[in-house]
Amino acid sequence: MSKIVRIAIVGPMLLVLLLMSVTGAAKFKVGLSMATLAEERWKVDRDLFKAEIEKLGGEVIVAAANGDENLQNSQAENLITQGVDVLVVIAQNGETASAIVNSAHKSKVPVIAYDRLIKNCDLDLYVSFDSVKVGELMAEYVCRLRPSGNYFIINGSPTDNNAHLVRQGFYNVLKKYPKIKVVFEQWCDSWSPEKALKHVENGLTQFKNDVQVILCANDGTCGGAVQALAEQKLAGKVLTTGQDAELAACKRIVAGTQAVTIYKPIKKLALAAAKATAELAAGKTPSEINEKVNNGRSDVPSIMLMPIQVDKNNMREVIVADGYHTEEEIYGK
Ligand code: GAL
Repeated sequence: MSKIVRIAIVGPMLLVLLLMSVTGAAKFKVGLSMATLAEERWKVDRDLFKAEIEKLGGEVIVAAANGDENLQNSQAENLITQGVDVLVVIAQNGETASAIVNSAHKSKVPVIAYDRLIKNCDLDLYVSFDSVKVGELMAEYVCRLRPSGNYFIINGSPTDNNAHLVRQGFYNVLKKYPKIKVVFEQWCDSWSPEKALKHVENGLTQFKNDVQVILCANDGTCGGAVQALAEQKLAGKVLTTGQDAELAACKRIVAGTQAVTIYKPIKKLALAAAKATAELAAGKTPSEINEKVNNGRSDVPSIMLMPIQVDKNNMREVIVADGYHTEEEIYGK
């Protein structure tokens, strides 16, 4: 190679290195592969996670898949190709996303399952809330108030492991109440509120409006259920549940059309995940592991956080005090 050619190649490289040190370029690169941004919470997860990683000296490349598991798999491949040091995945499909983990491992990239477990693979870390507890907290709330009668269950997405855990939580509590009858149960692909609306319309027709409680797996589906109830002038009469403390749900709780939501302080999740990501990027074992969760293949080192039951009585002390929504946003004026 001639001297001139060498200068032509090495020169620009040195310039880039110099610029990187001057501009404080990222110490590590993280891929965040998101199933969806549909529910209000996911933008909060993304923004908090990204900001924290940047604070820790890294950078985040985000890809969101519109609820399409195939798209998510190809987006994740793309993130791996871009040379991320750690891949953080919120899986649309907890089974098929194992392909993402296998492929990342081929490139020696560790994978964190964020919020939703990925099954049957050698996952490096799982960071989430206890979703069985989420279901139990919802069911305990309404079963105490209505210990008998007809219940509908509106489950979340069948491809999301959390939806199954929430359902398990429902039944853990329901089995203690022999006078409660689950007369109708349906699943909502991609946690679709529209599907929930249709299901509840059908259930109400089928059972001639004779229902005391609708256990809905999240706030979005609860929105659909309450709309169906409102069409029959039953909103506020039939107790409903949800999770995520979405603003619309907090407003429904204040208005009395939703009984309870389960708040999962996203900041805790995003910050714990970001810290663990930085640790993995530095080749360390995440320091906040507090549990092992079996994913069908192995006991996955996990960081599990606790969800909180919120109704109209503790709305201010939990949601407003935590800065999740403001007093004005929830109560107006
Ligand atoms: C679940 C998550 C819930 C809810 C839902 C819809 O996996 O745990 O908080 O947001 O997805 O995206």
